[in-house]
Amino acid sequence: LRVAVLASGRGSNLQALIDAQRAGTLPIEFVLVASDKVHAHALRRAEAVGIPTLALAPKSAPTRAAYDAELFARIAVADPQLIVLAGFMRIIDPAVLEPWAGRIVNIHPSLLPKYPGLHTHRRAIDAGDALHGATVHYVTAELDGGPPIARAEIPIHAGDTPEILAERLLAEEHRLLVAVVALIAAGRIALDGTRVRLDGTAL
Ligand code: GRF
Repeated sequence: LRVAVLASGRGSNLQALIDAQRAGTLPIEFVLVASDKVHAHALRRAEAVGIPTLALAPKSAPTRAAYDAELFARIAVADPQLIVLAGFMRIIDPAVLEPWAGRIVNIHPSLLPKYPGLHTHRRAIDAGDALHGATVHYVTAELDGGPPIARAEIPIHAGDTPEILAERLLAEEHRLLVAVVALIAAGRIALDGTRVRLDGTAL
């Protein structure tokens, strides 16, 4: 499976995919790692293992829409079958997303539909939730609102801070993302409701 990853920061979820792929447990090929942040550590992680990278700063384009169009045109050239958003901290223009429907997924650190957007760990603690987690979902025009694919759950303990909770969840995110990409690579996950494979054929 040809995979492109978009990441804005640290890139630990990208690293989990790289590690699984290199261990031989995830049959994918990284065709591109792209970032909106020129100094994103994710780009260094990709370079370290010879994955092609693209650093494209938003201010290189006159408008948000022009930026998204440029970014996704460059991604299209790499010809991925799947795009993974792994800590990509931008809202993407629905017009450029549309052709990728069912072929672009995001990992979000909450049990969606709870807590779309930012500060999910603090919000879960402040709400007194007993459970927290992460969701991998298809990306649609609605922020963190596309059909969920899979979730990982963890308990929230008394005394948890957002930082402690985030760190505990991160290990589960890595497992979750690798598992979902493996299922997609195996052709075993369909776009919610429509039952199509990534190549568009019926399941
Ligand atoms: C993760 O918590 C992910 O769920 C969220 O941003 C964070 C990215 O971490 N969307 P990393 O860059 O993969 O280390």
